[in-house]
Amino acid sequence: MRIREGMRMAAGIDDIAIYIPKLFVDASDFAVARGVDPAKMQSGLGVSQMAIVDTNQDPACLAANACLKVMQKNKLSPDDIGRLYVATESSLDESKAMNSYVIGMLEQVYGEGSFEHCGGIECKFACVSGSYALYDNANWIRAGEAENKSALVVVSDIAKYDLGSSGELTQGAGAVAMLLNDKPRLLAFDPKVTSTSIKNEYDFYRPFGKETPIVHGQYSNLLYLIQVRNALEAYKRKALSTGLIKLKEGETVLDHIDYLNMHLPYSNMGKKALAYLVRHEWRTTPRWKKLIEKIGIEEPRPKDPRGTIESILADADYMTKDHEFTKLFTKTKEFQDVYETKLASSLIASKMIGNLYTASLYLGFRSSLEFEFQKGVELEGKRIGFGSYGSGSSAMVFSGVIQPSYKQVVKDMNLEAELGKRKKLSLEEYEEIHENKRSVDDSILEPKKEFVLVSVATAPESSGERKYVFSE
Ligand code: HMG
Repeated sequence: MRIREGMRMAAGIDDIAIYIPKLFVDASDFAVARGVDPAKMQSGLGVSQMAIVDTNQDPACLAANACLKVMQKNKLSPDDIGRLYVATESSLDESKAMNSYVIGMLEQVYGEGSFEHCGGIECKFACVSGSYALYDNANWIRAGEAENKSALVVVSDIAKYDLGSSGELTQGAGAVAMLLNDKPRLLAFDPKVTSTSIKNEYDFYRPFGKETPIVHGQYSNLLYLIQVRNALEAYKRKALSTGLIKLKEGETVLDHIDYLNMHLPYSNMGKKALAYLVRHEWRTTPRWKKLIEKIGIEEPRPKDPRGTIESILADADYMTKDHEFTKLFTKTKEFQDVYETKLASSLIASKMIGNLYTASLYLGFRSSLEFEFQKGVELEGKRIGFGSYGSGSSAMVFSGVIQPSYKQVVKDMNLEAELGKRKKLSLEEYEEIHENKRSVDDSILEPKKEFVLVSVATAPESSGERKYVFSE
């Protein structure tokens, strides 16, 4: 039976599959090699391991591997799929969309032409594009255009920064494939509340032809917080005006969201974002006054509260005091309760895998489902909020509700088993891969039951053509 909201068709995430490369660098070894205190990576950023792609992997084959997993797990045939979108910021071509490569790979398994009826595009807006792709495909379903078919939205990226840069401590790679339909077993999106914020910014960007981004790290951290907060304001207005959320005296919108999943460029950014949003929401409630008394210092204000991000970052006195205040605030029992119940489980996978750009938010969602289920929490009916951010910059805040049949899917989630046996890279191996010194056919690992890249043509008439095989 279809789930309907009034006369509107529901839409949401039915299942999720992840594909994470089997190579990794260990944060502690890596920090030592870079002359950084290992505690900065482990506890300052919340990074324990970073997944690294092998020489025969690219973002398209990561995406195809995640798609194949979700299709095989659900015994789907290409006829069950009406749309296949790939959201990525690791694009391979200025014109040819990444989903075309993915379809080419899937057709090696399902037969040539088997996806011909399908539509889809590659979406780009740094890390937030996966959320736009989900929203657009959910609307395709809501509009009744899906003809009983599902959409596959795949988010796939390789987060790679310059050797020796501060961003190098926040790398990772992987793909998440999400199956969307009108009878989702996992999560039905809340209608009419998805909210966005957008501004032309240069916090993090990757000019054409450059393999690694240009990053203004601290600027990007603050911009992320401001943009997500702007989108949350818009979400709040919509949630209240549609009646999705009704606030009693002294309550905030966050009290009505059971779990929050944030974009995770590194796991501690999730905690930073939660603290920022909670502070913002609680500030106008009676509980804030009590909390300030407990913390023992007033909440600092920048010299120019209406100033630019640059002026706030340059206000050294404010930055120091705010840092101190945030530390004290995040240690309070009140914040710790919110952190432990709403966010902590979503950070576990990120610590083990690193930044997946577009896929980070959804790896976090999956992590939250698996680890909350393991705790024995009943998740049915719980509202999940998503705080998506993409540099450049745009944020999207939206929510959904866990469906009665979620256990059918979540009971089989096992991150450890899915990651399988991983190989720790030495610094030399990592740097060889990073600097593209090893060729495609000189991979570190032997591929097993997965798509891999076998060649990239260099002849002028076929330059850039990629060939993939499914390795048995
Ligand atoms: P940094 O300057 O190397 O590090 O930059 P830091 O000095 O800010 O330190 C990081 C944390 O470690 C701090 O914690 C330190 O106190 C702590 P906090 O105060 O913030 O809670 N720390 C230590 N803790 C324990 N022991 C120690 C120690 N030393 C320091 N010894 C930064 C960090 C993330 C900026 C850098 O790694 C970077 O530029 N990363 C790439 C950009 C990025 O991830 N930005 C995040 C927001 S933008 C975003 O999310 C979008 C993105 O995903 C791209 C997209 O949208 O496509 C990046």
